[in-house]
Amino acid sequence: MTSPRPDPDSTELDPEEARAEVARLRDELYRHAYLYFVEARPEIGDDVYDRMFRRLQSLEEAFPELVSPESPTHRVGAPPQDKFETVEHVAPMLSLDSSEKGEDVARFDERVRKALGAGVEPVYLLEPKLDGASIELVYVDGVLERAVTRGNGREGERVTENIRTIPTVPLRLRTDVREAPPLLSLRGEVMMYISDFAHFNASLLESGQEPYASPRNSAAGSIRQLDSRVTASRKLEVMVYDVLAAEGVSFATDSEGVAAIRDWGFVVPDPIETAVSVEEIVSYHARFEEHRDDLDYEIDGVVIKLDHLAARRAMGSTAHHPRWAMAFKFPPRQEVTVIEAIAIQVGRTGVLTPVAWLRPVTVGGVTVSRASLHNREELRRKDLREGDTVRIQRAGDVIPQVVEVLEHHDDRAQPFEMPSECPVCGTEVYEEGPRTICPNRFGCAAQLKGRIQHFGSRAALDIEGLGEETATLLVDRGLVRRLADLFDIEPKQLMELEGFGEKSATALVAAIASKRNPDLRRFLTALGIPEVGVTVARSLAESFGDFDAIRRAGREELEAIDGIGPRMSEAITGFFAEERNAAAIDALLAQGVEPKTVERVAADLPDLGTAVFTGTIPVPRVVAETAWRNVGGKTSGSVSKKTEFVVAGENAGSKLEKAERLGVEVLTFDEFLVRLREHGGALEEER
Ligand code: IVH
Repeated sequence: MTSPRPDPDSTELDPEEARAEVARLRDELYRHAYLYFVEARPEIGDDVYDRMFRRLQSLEEAFPELVSPESPTHRVGAPPQDKFETVEHVAPMLSLDSSEKGEDVARFDERVRKALGAGVEPVYLLEPKLDGASIELVYVDGVLERAVTRGNGREGERVTENIRTIPTVPLRLRTDVREAPPLLSLRGEVMMYISDFAHFNASLLESGQEPYASPRNSAAGSIRQLDSRVTASRKLEVMVYDVLAAEGVSFATDSEGVAAIRDWGFVVPDPIETAVSVEEIVSYHARFEEHRDDLDYEIDGVVIKLDHLAARRAMGSTAHHPRWAMAFKFPPRQEVTVIEAIAIQVGRTGVLTPVAWLRPVTVGGVTVSRASLHNREELRRKDLREGDTVRIQRAGDVIPQVVEVLEHHDDRAQPFEMPSECPVCGTEVYEEGPRTICPNRFGCAAQLKGRIQHFGSRAALDIEGLGEETATLLVDRGLVRRLADLFDIEPKQLMELEGFGEKSATALVAAIASKRNPDLRRFLTALGIPEVGVTVARSLAESFGDFDAIRRAGREELEAIDGIGPRMSEAITGFFAEERNAAAIDALLAQGVEPKTVERVAADLPDLGTAVFTGTIPVPRVVAETAWRNVGGKTSGSVSKKTEFVVAGENAGSKLEKAERLGVEVLTFDEFLVRLREHGGALEEER
């Protein structure tokens, strides 16, 4: 060995052993990433995955000759590029003829029937038309060689490093069901889920940056980043629907092609169906349109394609689009309207949000009369004023957005100015980055309403019947001045409010009372601690076990938890230290609210000694090693006097000899399993 090896563990491997372990780790990591991301049925925990990943990283560091672009470690982003190279597609990426009208579908069907001739019934493949950014993926001998944007259809930009960071794109095709052809070019769509888009835009806004107008723009922008680490930080998905070209394999139908795409490990659009008549096509389209809002990604129609590839070749293409396919689009979800007024809304955290009141319009079947204008910076950037004609857009669950100003009156209204006082409580506001905030956390009625609503929301205590309207009534009528008052409300008080009868009043009081003993993580979420959402609340609950411990925790203790950094620990300790928060919490506890304690996730484990595995064992070595470490043991690649025991599999060699020489205990794999179970452990794959 010549070069220094950074990882002490790896130095014990010779290059051949390292090569074998790297190959094994990569296989395991591919498999588990596929199970996790594509099939959504993981077999191992994140921690086990992370450990295998780090082991692979350190081996690649110690043995640079083993580094390879298709390694799972190459998903985290590469050094920035100056520009993208333009490359030609393996086959042209055509676009589709499209229409929103059923008649055009009937006409398309007629043309197809005519082309096929009498006696041949066409079979159509129906797919959702994904509203993302089109991409070509090229695999050579099963390994991802390049990814190219659609560009002008003939050539596009090579964005391989960026596409590599997307977890559902196989870096190597799965070959357990089907072989990898020598050359394969696939076409798919890069998507951003609507929920991820909403989060991402919120974080852009918070840092004063311009938000993206749609999930599609955001996906397209994300894959065109010169620094792939930026792409890696965005949550993207690729769905693949078409074999653009392949060598060494051929299919009779597109359905077969799609089945192959699935076998090779990709996410394909869902559901894909077949149809033999215009009626069936129209019904698929109608079903999809009805459920469009239930999907977490944008589709803008359905695609109809002739399934038989020989028939496709017979029909051919124009310069722009194939004659054997068309897009049957949905009505657009953009509409033009006028901003009638701009008003300010105050949320539970005191943030003042400008909101446009719009002349009501129907957008994709829903009447829209309000749109969020986000914050002061956004308002200034778009220069939105009362009276302006604007294009608005609705996307899934996301609040309608103003996309652009189309026209404004000559005698334009004055630019909108953020108020210097809270419009609800009159307290002087302050600015924090692009946001404007009312500091009157406990006295401002708007913040209290927001807090009550949040307290009862589904992710928090899930109190049925405690929505925005009720929260507003409770505060306006003086029934609730702080959260704890919720538990004092009586049915007869509610019955005096509009909209409440005896039944609904009793039900709400009962619903509130039933939450006196909430799950700890729900209670934490309900408190509305800055920076603490559902995920952080869960880790806090699992690491500390009871509320009092969390309340008393110092910053260091908090930061010891995975996922909690200085910013969060400061927010959390700051929240509990604030006198009025403490009083509000004490009042809740005095009402008999008692969050359940949670069994702590094991942290302090006894030291069980070092195990060394040698020879061939029935599970991947990392799985066995991880299981042993999970119960508090250590593992090593070499035997010494300090080794607790050696697990000898088939064909064990020098390590077994050394163990015998040193008098170290030797176990069979089955004996190891017994020992593991004695300590409450198990192989992850057994669970
Ligand atoms: S098939 C030549 N199938 O829609 C036919 N396209 O307007 C190739 N698209 O840019 C396209 N979902 O990126 C096909 N299930 C799907 C699709 C789909 C989205 C995109 C495609 C293209 C555009 C055509």
